[in-house]
Amino acid sequence: MARKPIIAGNWKMHNNSAQSKELIEGIKANVKELDAAKLPEIVVAPVFTSLAAVDEALCQCGCGKIKLAAQNVYFEPKGAFTGEISIDMLKDFSTSYIIIGHSERRQYFGETDEMINKKAKVILDNGIIPIICCGETLEQREQGVTDAHIAKQISEALKGLSAEEVAKSVIAYEPIWAIGTGKTCDSTEANRVIKHIRSVVEKEAGKEAADAIRILYGGSVKPETIAEQMAQSDIDGALVGGASLKADSFADIVKGAMAK
Ligand code: PGA
Repeated sequence: MARKPIIAGNWKMHNNSAQSKELIEGIKANVKELDAAKLPEIVVAPVFTSLAAVDEALCQCGCGKIKLAAQNVYFEPKGAFTGEISIDMLKDFSTSYIIIGHSERRQYFGETDEMINKKAKVILDNGIIPIICCGETLEQREQGVTDAHIAKQISEALKGLSAEEVAKSVIAYEPIWAIGTGKTCDSTEANRVIKHIRSVVEKEAGKEAADAIRILYGGSVKPETIAEQMAQSDIDGALVGGASLKADSFADIVKGAMAK
């Protein structure tokens, strides 16, 4: 079965509620006239404090063309964890996806593979879909350990999940040296690594799950790069940072991913 592509905008730590509302209204206006049957799944991940405003704007539109994601979740259900947000709190909104293990969270906030695995379990147990990020540093790439590093990140993230849970999850391959740098990873190389990720998924959860799981590319995706990326055999969409902060450029990326 063909995998439905996803274009997800990771807004990172940008935009208060009013600014988020303005951005989502802009995106809605841009995608309104597009043929729903040919659209990829469109996902936006605002900051926690903007989830309510964006959720409301999306519910009002009632078109179901755009889905809501959170950028993180804590794996404990509640308690003395100052500053954290639980899965139950994210269920106050129509949260469809949650990004976990983004390299910025691993790098600046000490997230480990074990924590990411716990988050994946909590997310799936609550009927939401994790977008599990992985990727190598420039140093790891130069040392030739990219594939081994990513295999470890993915195997640990998926530990203990059933084949069905893995099949519905999403992975984003984001080489760290390509994030926010304007240096997009060559599409054929991104496709090669994504095929490698699929082989790791197959080892962990079987062929059916490996064929079904959607694997995105992320790292300086722009309107000019998306067509070539989507033309690759194993790239099922994109996780977009900088270019998702402007309604026009995000919509252009969505258009570039239509009818794959
Ligand atoms: P970028 O970010 O598109 O700005 O490189 C991608 C990401 O970090 O998800």
